[in-house]
Amino acid sequence: MNEFIDARKGDQVCPEMPEPFKIKVIERITLPTRQKRKSLIEEASYNVFMLKAKDVFIDLLTDSGTSAMSDHQWAGMFETTQSYAGSQSYFTLGNAMEDIFGFKYWIPVHQGRAAENILFSTIIFPGCYVPSNTHFDTTEANIVNNKGIPVNLVIEDAYDPKKMLPFKGNMDINKLEAFIKEKTPRKIPLVMITITNNGVGGQPVSMQNIKEVSEIARKYQIPFFIDACRFAENCYLIKQREAESKDKTLKEIARTVFSYADGCTFSGKKDALTNIGGMLCTNNEELYTKFTNMLITIEGFLTYGGLACRDLEAMARGLYEAIDEDYQAYRHKQMAYLAKLLKEGGVPIYEPVGSHAIYIDSRQFLPHIPPEQFPDQALTAQLYLESGVRVTGLGSSAFGKIDEKTGRFIPSKMELVRLAIPRRVYTNNHLRYVAECIIKLYHEREKIRGLRRTYTPKALPHFTSRFEIIDKKGETNLEEP
Ligand code: F0G
Repeated sequence: MNEFIDARKGDQVCPEMPEPFKIKVIERITLPTRQKRKSLIEEASYNVFMLKAKDVFIDLLTDSGTSAMSDHQWAGMFETTQSYAGSQSYFTLGNAMEDIFGFKYWIPVHQGRAAENILFSTIIFPGCYVPSNTHFDTTEANIVNNKGIPVNLVIEDAYDPKKMLPFKGNMDINKLEAFIKEKTPRKIPLVMITITNNGVGGQPVSMQNIKEVSEIARKYQIPFFIDACRFAENCYLIKQREAESKDKTLKEIARTVFSYADGCTFSGKKDALTNIGGMLCTNNEELYTKFTNMLITIEGFLTYGGLACRDLEAMARGLYEAIDEDYQAYRHKQMAYLAKLLKEGGVPIYEPVGSHAIYIDSRQFLPHIPPEQFPDQALTAQLYLESGVRVTGLGSSAFGKIDEKTGRFIPSKMELVRLAIPRRVYTNNHLRYVAECIIKLYHEREKIRGLRRTYTPKALPHFTSRFEIIDKKGETNLEEP
């Protein structure tokens, strides 16, 4: 009867905590017919990013900018005043940043990748290296744009979708130190760590690992920055999985996490529970001055940073809602529910479940499709056709590369398909529908065909690539299971 005991409320016996909110506004969603979905996915060249949102029934493409905001956030958006300089919401957000993040300086930006652009164009130089556990693809692209070399040094276990470890997002400390010694600190203008690690199953990073990375960076006098998009979810998983933090509040955990760093990039579209917004933080005054110059040139004045003032207010309020433990408990329970249904149906998923998504292992789901035929994208396209559910392929369609010398295809280390769960948006009934459709597809998996890429963009391929179906007759229609 374990589920009837809410462990967070001590020994008080009560029904398990349901959602800590009720629904005040709804949005109608509709499922186009199968025939319509077939023509829509063909028109989208089998890339679900090309679909219109209105044609998607349940949208698990991303957890970014898709949160349902609270009445408190919306109220704040109405109440604030819009001004170019010195808006009250800038100061309200500043207080929240000081309270939760604790960095000396911060600037608002329109979203996470703008923070990355400002950071890298300020502190990196051609031919330098930027090690991380795993860079997100926009982070990687911003490093490359500034002629740096991104390096991923996550622990090897992260690439084993079945290995049960609490912190598979961790940096490999030995590899990091060996890398710094080999390349010399002079060639490494900063070390980063992504919490949680979106590139490998949304896995959390432990407090211990963050501390160790910080110690190494300090030993070699290299600035240490955190990509903090999902900091609150990472803090919740630290509290759940790391004994030393079990009695701390999420705010205390966050303050400790950030105390180890010299700065952070942050996309408010995740753990500030907003539809737009981001931040760049630092403890270094000189760096801050450089950031503000760049900010004013490319984003906006330093008290709005490319956002409307109401967006600053929504972030200020959303940050506190993200570190509310009842909310985090509900969010992680919902993901555990979806994972349980999929596992009971035999669907191979990445384990343990991380912070913001369930990842299906499409290599195991579709063993008959080789990586160069993009099993991640084939599953994504077929799932839309079967159910109107949109998810993201994060395998070879996103990370596969062509070796410039040999012309050979280098597959992604894993073939994951991400079911990102927007915050406070879908009910467990929606997720049950998703699970049932995926399980049905799993039983018919032999009929799914691989894809051939007909257009490959220069950067960030999964957003705009186009594909066609490879079938025996050379037809470009999805197989009808
Ligand atoms: N870092 C990480 C770890 C991310 O997941 C993202 C965005 C960014 C940086 C960039 O932030 O979108 O505000 O510019 N991730 C989204 C996703 C797009 O779907 O995972 P942004």
